[in-house]
Amino acid sequence: MHHSPRHNRWVGIGFATLAVRLLAEPEFKGADPADWKLPSEPFTLREDGGLAAVRENCLLCHSTEYISTQPPLKRTQWEAEVTKMRVKFAAPIPTNAVPGLVDYLVRNYGTTNR
Ligand code: HEC
Repeated sequence: MHHSPRHNRWVGIGFATLAVRLLAEPEFKGADPADWKLPSEPFTLREDGGLAAVRENCLLCHSTEYISTQPPLKRTQWEAEVTKMRVKFAAPIPTNAVPGLVDYLVRNYGTTNR
């Protein structure tokens, strides 16, 4: 068996044709969006009276997952997070909004023993 340049070129064309055919395969045709399985709620935060303030103060710089994917934190830890956002990242969060934000975070993303 010999590999002439000519032979290799035909093999190359064969693979290219196969690739084009695979790409053209209409495998997603007919997929119903209603069947798509999404993780339960990846982009949202728990809804309660405090959520509006979080929307206003916490989502300027990053998505909700930064909050929702944290392990349950104690109150002091959430306080420290909010302080970090303000001090380290210069988040424009008014001082009087902080307790409400921390309450929301502890209520919804806190450890059960607070
Ligand atoms: C001024 C921009 C800004 C605002 C506003 C902001 N953050 Fe952040 N946040 C950041 C940055 C920057 C990071 C770090 C991103 C990284 O490390 O990739 C971060 C990360 C986080 C993290 C991940 C843990 C960590 O410490 O890195 C949490 C939780 C978080 N923010 C919560 C909040 C909450 C709650 C609020 C509202 C009270 C808030 N952020 C508002 C900029 C902001």
